Amino acid sequence: MPSDPDHGQRWAHERSHVPLPIILVNGEVRDEFIVSGMQLLLRGASAGDVAEHIARAVEDDPEEHTVGYGGWPNSLGEVELDASFMDGATLRAGAVAALKGFRHPISVARQVMARLPHVLLVGEGAARFAEEIGAERRDMLSPEARAAWQAHAARFADAPAESVIDLTLRMLEQPIGHDTMNVIVRDANGHLCTAVTTSGIAWKYPGRVGDSAIIGAGNYCDDRYGAATCMGLGEAAIRTCAAAQAVTLMRFGYSLETAGQQVAQQLAALLGEADHRVHTNWVRLLLIDAQGHFGGFATRPGLHFKVQTAHDQWPTTHEAVSITQA
Ligand code: GLY
Repeated sequence: MPSDPDHGQRWAHERSHVPLPIILVNGEVRDEFIVSGMQLLLRGASAGDVAEHIARAVEDDPEEHTVGYGGWPNSLGEVELDASFMDGATLRAGAVAALKGFRHPISVARQVMARLPHVLLVGEGAARFAEEIGAERRDMLSPEARAAWQAHAARFADAPAESVIDLTLRMLEQPIGHDTMNVIVRDANGHLCTAVTTSGIAWKYPGRVGDSAIIGAGNYCDDRYGAATCMGLGEAAIRTCAAAQAVTLMRFGYSLETAGQQVAQQLAALLGEADHRVHTNWVRLLLIDAQGHFGGFATRPGLHFKVQTAHDQWPTTHEAVSITQA
């Protein structure tokens, strides 16, 4: 394996070889959440605490309809939440999937990592664990999300669905949006942590789990090589092991740009498959390497991410490299 297959090509956003606190998030995250995370980092907070802090803020934001409270429900009107947390120093990870009725799935995921010799808890087991650790309960279906689901379901009242499969496929014909919260944090020690949290695809079949809860698919983090997180169509990220694959390419000496473009090309190939049931036909990947180079890669133009380094007063917004532009 060549030590530098990209012949020294490096990402343009390099600022320093000294560990520089960096926060990298998807473009939908409010600036104030990122700024408050950077203030914590500058006061010495760990990457893990800051990643959790930002993810919790987004989970509480009722305007964000694909994460936490206010997230779009499944086809039966239930909000089911997926989240994962990974520590790049130890490769320890925790995740929950299809969790109902708790305010902060990301904190439950982190506690799975901290308290159990497991990585992933689902459904009733995840809820039992959340209850046992004293996680805060909340009805996660906001009035706005309930009204949107009721309005959508009412379109099928004249011809009632024969099964939940039938109902789900019909509801998915008219998607309402699909996103996720991704955060990658590097602290002043050069330590990386990642947090991903989502309500998943709107109107999904009950029990559907996306990439956000799957370590290696939507979330992967290793201090030695870098970190990657995904948003968009989780099934594509699962089928390509997208996040772990991107970090593994960097491990074997490929630059961040090559890793991001390679994985985005694989994702685009899957997304190009004709499947009339798939309406969210994009994936965006966020990447950072061990030196602090960062970037975003997407399967279509017009998808953004935000970055704040310790040098910046405010986050800056960047368009992810679309593989059609690569
Ligand atoms: N990427 C989030 C999901 O597919 O659930």
